[in-house]
Amino acid sequence: MSINAILSRVDADFPKSLDRLFDFLRIPSISADPSHKDDCVRAAEWLVRELTALGFDASLRPTPLHPMVIGHYTKAGPDKPHVLFYAHYDVQPADPLELWDSPPFEPVVKTFPDGSERILARGAQDDKGQLMTFLEACRALIAETGKLPVNVTFFSEGEEESGSPSMIPFLEANKAELSADVALVCDTEMWDRKTPAITTMLRGLVGEEISLRCASHDLHSGAFGGAALNPLQVLTKILGDLHDDKGRVTVPGFYDGVADISPTLRANWDNLGFDAAAFLGGAGLKTPAGEADRTVLEQIWSRPTCEINGLAGGYAGPGFKTVLPASAEAKVSFRLVAGQDPQKIRAAFRQYVRDRLPPDAKVEFREHGGSPAVHVAIDGAAVGKARAALEAEWGKAPALVGSGGSIPVVGNFKSILGLDSLMIGFGLDDDRIHSPNEKYEVTSYHGGIRSWVRVLDALAS
Ligand code: BES
Ligand code: ZN
Repeated sequence: MSINAILSRVDADFPKSLDRLFDFLRIPSISADPSHKDDCVRAAEWLVRELTALGFDASLRPTPLHPMVIGHYTKAGPDKPHVLFYAHYDVQPADPLELWDSPPFEPVVKTFPDGSERILARGAQDDKGQLMTFLEACRALIAETGKLPVNVTFFSEGEEESGSPSMIPFLEANKAELSADVALVCDTEMWDRKTPAITTMLRGLVGEEISLRCASHDLHSGAFGGAALNPLQVLTKILGDLHDDKGRVTVPGFYDGVADISPTLRANWDNLGFDAAAFLGGAGLKTPAGEADRTVLEQIWSRPTCEINGLAGGYAGPGFKTVLPASAEAKVSFRLVAGQDPQKIRAAFRQYVRDRLPPDAKVEFREHGGSPAVHVAIDGAAVGKARAALEAEWGKAPALVGSGGSIPVVGNFKSILGLDSLMIGFGLDDDRIHSPNEKYEVTSYHGGIRSWVRVLDALAS
């Protein structure tokens, strides 16, 4: 059977592939919001139904939070390779709702002035659109040839956007069932609209929530101001000191073990022709704000960072209130690179905060996930086949790229299942993931489906 017949079927069925993605996108499977717990179950059940219809032996697996979905396909035969496909079915909260041009869970395709057609919805890219590229490729392969060319374990979680609390115990308890030759992870980006990419490195992540308490209750800022310690002022001073005037993180030991990228990798990245102005311009910015002596690609791919993600305390409602607050909170995260140990970074940060606390200030920390950076080998046979397959589809060799984001499960696949991951995704850096007006280009969805047809076919040989 020629690959062209399968690709023609993808093209002919594309309107239906869009309809199915729309059905999936209408389910608001927001993992972080307890009021959407049933929607997460609905999304998982939706996947089980789709997989079953394609001939997978699929089931929903309860966890303490949101269910996992596993589907086995073994009809390729015992002599064929076995891949573990991963994508997440949960999405980020959609707020602030008023900033969306159309309702986040009522997907639409809109044509933009530059001629691009975009699927607009929460999860359109991250990660439901990406997940569906694989499912629709499987559908076309089965419809046209009767079966998939490789054995597949389809694996989807509903907690990725909430730090995957159930993942490690689940992998440990289901090691044998999830065994495979290689993992395929679809949660990353292309290089640009016309150039595919294989992601070879991801940054790690450490999340920390800090609560600072000073007085026993809120005080009148006239009656007590000047004498009483203000936790918002203590906290903002500590947070403000986290970076020096060169943009470097000041936590002692933060850069221990962090190496510069190799000359080969640097040459490779220089050859990509990255347009920093366009990248920042897409976010309404002009000037890189990270470490002064680093390129923008280094700043987002190979350098560790610290970001304040949220700050709360005192009165920020309508009008004005002369309050001297009793407490203040912040959420801070660190993106990590190779050589950094999440637990050591967490401990160093807590010590840094404690060392700066004045008398009467009491701090509590709450941990929110910790995962190391991940590097994948690019010399394996599967990578070579995938590169050729992507080049055949897009007419250009895939770029080998880093990613500033984190996909902790990739590290877990290696350490628990012993699996290398091939990270192929079709997102773009202006897709506004986690943000209002998230979109997935129709070319990403269509080209993504066609790409998986070719990659699965190539992996079989
Ligand atoms: N799809 C993203 C990861 C990503 C972001 C890949 C940007 C490529 C470019 C993923 O869903 C995500 O957002 N991950 C979280 C992980 C965290 C919640 C543990 C992240 O990176 O913040
Ligand atoms: Zn994602």
